[in-house]
Amino acid sequence: MDWHTNAIFYELYLRAFNDGNGDGHGDFTGLRQRLDYLQWLGVDCIWLLPINQSPLKDDGYDVSSYYGIHPTYGQLEDFMMTLDEVHRRGMKLIVDIVMNHTSDQHPWFQESRRAKDSPLRDFYVWTDDTDKYKEARIIFLDTERSNWAYSASTGQYYWHRFYSSQPDLNYDNPKVQEEMIRAVRFWLDLGVDGFRLDAVPYLFEREGTNNENLPETHEFLKKVRKLVDDEYPGRMLLAEANQWPQDLMPYFGAGDELHMCFHFPIMPRLYMALAKGDRTPVRGIWANTPEIPENCQWATFLRNHDELTLEMVTEEDRQFMWEYYAPDHRARLNLGIRRRLAPLMGNDRRKIELMHSLLFTMPGAPVLYYGDEIGMGDDLNLPDRNGVRTPMQWADEPHAGFSNTQSDALYAPVIRDPIYGFQNLNVANQQADSGSLLHRIREMIHLRKEMSFLAQGRLTWLEDTPLSSLSYWRNSPEGRLLCLHNLADEPLTISVPECELLTDVFAPDEKFVAEVSLPPYGYRWLRY
Ligand code: GLC
Repeated sequence: MDWHTNAIFYELYLRAFNDGNGDGHGDFTGLRQRLDYLQWLGVDCIWLLPINQSPLKDDGYDVSSYYGIHPTYGQLEDFMMTLDEVHRRGMKLIVDIVMNHTSDQHPWFQESRRAKDSPLRDFYVWTDDTDKYKEARIIFLDTERSNWAYSASTGQYYWHRFYSSQPDLNYDNPKVQEEMIRAVRFWLDLGVDGFRLDAVPYLFEREGTNNENLPETHEFLKKVRKLVDDEYPGRMLLAEANQWPQDLMPYFGAGDELHMCFHFPIMPRLYMALAKGDRTPVRGIWANTPEIPENCQWATFLRNHDELTLEMVTEEDRQFMWEYYAPDHRARLNLGIRRRLAPLMGNDRRKIELMHSLLFTMPGAPVLYYGDEIGMGDDLNLPDRNGVRTPMQWADEPHAGFSNTQSDALYAPVIRDPIYGFQNLNVANQQADSGSLLHRIREMIHLRKEMSFLAQGRLTWLEDTPLSSLSYWRNSPEGRLLCLHNLADEPLTISVPECELLTDVFAPDEKFVAEVSLPPYGYRWLRY
């Protein structure tokens, strides 16, 4: 089995994680001090949000050099030391690579925008005619009016799928492709274990299409994969493609394109099923998810650094999700909800655990978002997605143990409200309390790793149960696990054939006869 198929991923925003030099920004020195924690938790692979040089208009997703490290994070040597330390612990590290666009501060764009006859003009997509590519949707709906932005120096417009400060690269230019491959090679040569490929559906533009998932895009990605297979075997490519399952399938190719894709459509349906106390949305989306090639894997997640995207649901479901999970309109952003897991769950420990239980027992490799393992809150007073990117809460110490800066110059305020404030809610407290959420999540991680058949085993629904039961077998020749989940606020009893042969891995002494009961929002992992 390839390592990525059975890995526990941990998404980490370096600026937010731990400040090692007291300047109020997280950095590589700080991360190294916390690697023991990640190892203890059971993390197999760290995914770092962009670490490149950037004016940070989109937290690093606006790259101004593919080779430099952002100065507040440290030097390239710091990165290398960190990578060594990660590897020494038997863990892996992947980095975000932003292929679709650069910052408008990138020297390529500075040169390209200068003049129509600039040698780098063709690095980006320019036009006089803003009616071009009309079928492409706008992604940052709350801020952008068009995917074209005006550039005064030449009186032309440039193409951008995200903020206008993020001009899209022109992949029809072979030099752009070469440059990107050069950057990929640079990081692979340094030893990274792979990439999260940001925003890959949008690499190419073609009139008469929505400019997403084009055959040319797949062709380029296959080229990148071939490079990995030929020269860097064992490294992994994970796509961020917020698309329906049928549009995601081509990103796996015949096992010759990307190793992993995030399963965007399953994510909101877990929330929907819980809200409605009805498993239907979850079963529906797995029924519509085709089998993937054997060396491939889904990356599954509950939350990440962006808004909880509702792009992959119907208009009606989106309204439902907004009304249910974001009655406070400040929590709505673009087509999503800018909140963390715990606040979405009303800080109900039972629901937070239930969602994690689904994450760890359904097909796919789970990707955790930093801070969710302790049930961190968010800050709706901060703009954009910043409210879910606040400093990690390590301890009841100044600046939550995140930084020992003498000034108050944190990159973002720590959370101090009575429920989610760092004074109570922090890693140190939860490590000291064996009944904490952190300990439970850690236990789930370790069990999941022990039962490696959960990575690729089959999923078979347990039939003839009430709609509030989201229950299934995970089967493989190596083992069988019956996973029971109660999506409702009332107790549930499920008859289970041969249940006297089952052991609850969380409560091994319990005995069952003919049926198994679950408390409201309860779950059980029963090993055969
Ligand atoms: C991806 C990132 C998001 C970023 C966008 C533009 O969707 O997850 O944070 O803003 O790409 O790069």
